[in-house]
Amino acid sequence: MPEEKNSQPKEKEESTTEVLLSEDTLYNAPELFARNARASDFEALYRRAEADPEGFWADFASELPWKKKWKKVLDDSKKPFYSWFAGGKTNLYTAAVERHQATAVKDKAAFIWEGENGDTRTITYGQLHETVNKFSAGLRSLNLNKGDRVAIYMPNIPEVAVAMLACVKMGIVHSVVYAGFSAQAIQKRVEDAEAKVIITTDGSFRRGKTLSLKEVVDQALSAGCPSIQHSIIVQHAKNPVTMKEGRDLWYHELIAQDLPVPDTEVMDSEDPAFILYTSGTTGTPKGVVHSHGGYMVGVYTTLKLVFDLRESDVYWCTADPGWITGHSYIVYGPLMNGVTSLLFEGVPDYPKTDRIWEMVERHHVTILYTAPTLIRMMAKYGEAGVKAHDLSCLRLLGSVGEPINPKAWLWYYEHVGNKRCPIMDTWWQTETGMFMICPLPPVPLKAGSAYKPFPGIIADVVDKTGKSVPPGKGGFLVIKNSWPAQLKTLFRNPQRYLETYFEKIPGVYLTGDMARRDKDGYFWIQGRSDDVLKIAGHRLSNAEIESAIVSHPAVSEAGVIGKPDPVKGEVAKAFVILKSGFAPSPELSQEIRQHIRKTIGPLAVTDEVVFVSKLPKTRSGKIMRRVLRAQELGEDPGDTSTLED
Ligand code: PRX
Repeated sequence: MPEEKNSQPKEKEESTTEVLLSEDTLYNAPELFARNARASDFEALYRRAEADPEGFWADFASELPWKKKWKKVLDDSKKPFYSWFAGGKTNLYTAAVERHQATAVKDKAAFIWEGENGDTRTITYGQLHETVNKFSAGLRSLNLNKGDRVAIYMPNIPEVAVAMLACVKMGIVHSVVYAGFSAQAIQKRVEDAEAKVIITTDGSFRRGKTLSLKEVVDQALSAGCPSIQHSIIVQHAKNPVTMKEGRDLWYHELIAQDLPVPDTEVMDSEDPAFILYTSGTTGTPKGVVHSHGGYMVGVYTTLKLVFDLRESDVYWCTADPGWITGHSYIVYGPLMNGVTSLLFEGVPDYPKTDRIWEMVERHHVTILYTAPTLIRMMAKYGEAGVKAHDLSCLRLLGSVGEPINPKAWLWYYEHVGNKRCPIMDTWWQTETGMFMICPLPPVPLKAGSAYKPFPGIIADVVDKTGKSVPPGKGGFLVIKNSWPAQLKTLFRNPQRYLETYFEKIPGVYLTGDMARRDKDGYFWIQGRSDDVLKIAGHRLSNAEIESAIVSHPAVSEAGVIGKPDPVKGEVAKAFVILKSGFAPSPELSQEIRQHIRKTIGPLAVTDEVVFVSKLPKTRSGKIMRRVLRAQELGEDPGDTSTLED
């Protein structure tokens, strides 16, 4: 943590070659939105939010249910610990599911789930409510109450949403751990949150293989996690598992009991709804805390406006519920808006590379929200796969998770959207909870730019001292005001919250990203300025991978850098110093990669491990990753005056 406090944000060289190719060309879908009377309303939204941001958010908050109305929209008296809708009483669950029970939405599909083998299930809003009620009764029978923490480690199946919603309904704080993380990663997160229960499945499917998630959880529990009293196992893959008497319970048995359904907990607007651990610049993940009231208003409003949601939409966000995109824009956002979402447990190019397009056509998907890595992967497969399907059902496209390069943007626009569908490139973070820089559908778009701040958000590009930089120049992306879905704090670590986001450049929220604004005010996001990696859109920290590597018995020191990759955006490369007595070999390199897989998960495995005898360090012994990276990419290492040797 001191590392975070002392590390000043670093300026990064801009890479604009591709950007400049298309910067001045404007794209949009005029014929689509000319017919849309709402187009003019969008301009009014920007004006309204600029003139009265609190009034703007209050208008949308009023569309959601409150048990007691708030006293103040935004209370900044304890800045940067902001309160949104303070004094208000509500529950995110009521907004997401309960309120629809009295309307026609009750019989509408909330989720259409498809498994890797093609099995499908449809769950209406009514059925979802019923199941959540039963499961919450089961949780209560385990003596779980408001404020307790529950960990969730599950594949993309409807029960993951049921588990999250049942917790939120009861005021239990959920902490979802992405199912690609290892036992050790689960252990770290469960122990930090002191979760009492962990919910998992007997397995999941990936590329024809069955993965035993319960086994991974069992490993975590046998290594530690003293706070865990029970695991709840959803029977999904019919994979044989060993149940530990007294500790392990079947989900289907728990919900089959005829237990009294607990009332939905009336929560203060500011009460925590969930924790989501995310990577920072140290080896310890941060527990980002989101609330009920502000989060629900921010997520509801952004999804409604940015994707211009309609009653008849079939919306598909290809993310995983284990990341913030899944929380905000698979579970809570779509449900609050009463749309039908497609959930897919599988990968988009299996068993055939056009699986994704085949599914869009078959399910009549109208909005597709995905990541640049997937778009680049699909582009690599060529156009034949897309052309083989009728994608005329699509009306809007979205992108998230990493910068989208103009070439990938144009491919998405031309071949997937057939030049009819606007692309909403949404820049945001686990911490922001909701879209922050993104277009609204009718605005003129530029290939590779995330457009401008969402109404009510003030973003800027500044230098180290916090001074705005002129158009065309790169700098640190900061947010200058608060927004409803802003993280509340870092779990049990308010000091780290202050140090990470508000102290390096005082007075603003430091995003950790570099950006540039062009002469028209469009933002071009350039990637992280800190030691956070984005591998295929997955957020990992260099320090986390380094500490996994040095925990291998042969390793003395390690430095990890991110390297540009044409499909994944970025991949990790490790430079390793071995302990004396160990000799470099391809087998050892492979073993270290396996060790990373075991320690963090497959997503963190470095592409390369190279053995070195020295690493560039400061005089105080800190590895200078910047110098390693410059050497690797043949770039200017910048200021090396602090380099020891
Ligand atoms: O670097 C930015 C990148 O993803 C980071 C946030 O990662 P995470 O908290 O995992 O949330 C990802 C999903 C919201 C950001 O700091 N990022 C996210 N969206 C974009 C992006 N970079 C460029 N363009 C985007 N649209």
